[in-house]
Amino acid sequence: MAYVRACGLSELEEDTPKRVELDGTPVSLVQTEGEVFAIHDICSHANVSLSEGEVEDCQIECWLHGSSFDLRTGKPSGLPATRPVPVYPVKIEGDDVLVSLNQES
Ligand code: FES
Repeated sequence: MAYVRACGLSELEEDTPKRVELDGTPVSLVQTEGEVFAIHDICSHANVSLSEGEVEDCQIECWLHGSSFDLRTGKPSGLPATRPVPVYPVKIEGDDVLVSLNQES
């Protein structure tokens, strides 16, 4: 399982999503509740960037229709989205935030 460097840990602000592109895949990185999460940046309901939404209670909210996705599982908390968004394993090494796109969890 290959990890790639997504950004520096010091570039992340608590509860403020950061969008990065990894091998052409848009990923939203979120530091919250003492952990860093990586979630696919596109809502499963329509083509909306989740990194433009708000983070609360370990969930990221899609600003367009209000579905929230659990940062640990990618599952939506409610309609209109019904399908999960992929989430990816994250490792922190020093100031490097590493993400593995190969394995969705
Ligand atoms: S586009 Fe995200 S909930 Fe509709």
